[in-house]
Amino acid sequence: MEQTANRIGIYVFSGTGNTLKCAKALETALTEQGVPVRLHEIADGSETVTERDLVLCYPVYGFNMPRILKTFCRNLAIGGNVWFLKTSGEPLHLNDNSSAQMIRILKKKGYRIKGEFHYIMPYNMVFRHTDELASLMWQTAKERIPDAAKKIAAGEETPVVAPLSAKFVSALYRIEHWFYPRNGRLFRVDPKKCVHCQKCVKNCPTKNITYADGKFRFGKHCIGCVRCSFRCPTGAIHIGLIDFMRVNGPYDFTRDPASAVPGRFLKASYERYFADRRD
Ligand SMILES: Cc1cc2nc3c(=O)[nH]c(=O)nc-3n(C[C@H](O)[C@H](O)[C@H](O)COP(=O)(O)O)c2cc1C
Ligand code: SF4
Ligand code: SF4
Repeated sequence: MEQTANRIGIYVFSGTGNTLKCAKALETALTEQGVPVRLHEIADGSETVTERDLVLCYPVYGFNMPRILKTFCRNLAIGGNVWFLKTSGEPLHLNDNSSAQMIRILKKKGYRIKGEFHYIMPYNMVFRHTDELASLMWQTAKERIPDAAKKIAAGEETPVVAPLSAKFVSALYRIEHWFYPRNGRLFRVDPKKCVHCQKCVKNCPTKNITYADGKFRFGKHCIGCVRCSFRCPTGAIHIGLIDFMRVNGPYDFTRDPASAVPGRFLKASYERYFADRRD
């Protein structure tokens, strides 16, 4: 097996691309710092990991991590250093406990938790941010990620702490891990809108969508990543009980960030985040 003791492995799960963008920026920044690094995408959580030191990257789902990250952590064998990079749509401390379940698993395996980096990226669920705000989020993340790379390169350790409110809310929302596979069975394709491109079938990370005899079938392995509905070119996929929160189609991250104006929703929190302080 290839010797990778000194290389850092960046392992990414990203439903709709935000976290992958940030992870790639971290890979570039670490390389510029002279740190040997390789980025791998997590497909189903059973990936073979050869590096001792890891950066685990994920989007926050219901104030927790996606279930697939838990599977990934359970399958890890050897203990080294671990950092987390996470993205979320809200700049709130209520998201601060999202790594807790992974931290418990990793500590038992002898991993040392070195820190967590949190970037706000546009919602792929709940409602659509403007492209200008999405561009400002991306610009802000790109400006801050080199600082994370410096801390990783220096082996700096920052405790991952969460207020009681975040612990309470994340414990409450763990029910979403139970909800997504059940809600996934309620997904439907609008035959009037579908152009049969098969993107949804090919891209589902859990291979939960099948197409036969002109019909789509949604199985019981949905993790709620919304990749299928977000990337559907015609917005043909209804996502069950949470369809009222569906966001369809990629953001244009090339708009002028200077013209971004946070909406009324959590306005002060977004402004504080962009000014380098959070709620
Ligand atoms: C099922 C689901 C639950 C989410 N829950 C939260 C949440 O609790 N807090 C938050 O700030 N954002 C939440 N989001 C928004 C995502 O974390 C955010 O858009 C993220 O950047 C998406 O990353 P990705 O493109 O890598 O999948 C949620 C998104 C989805 C699909
Ligand atoms: S991605 Fe949308 S248009 Fe393409 S096959 Fe799936 S539902 Fe139909
Ligand atoms: S069915 Fe859609 S939301 Fe569910 S895991 Fe697959 S791509 Fe993600």
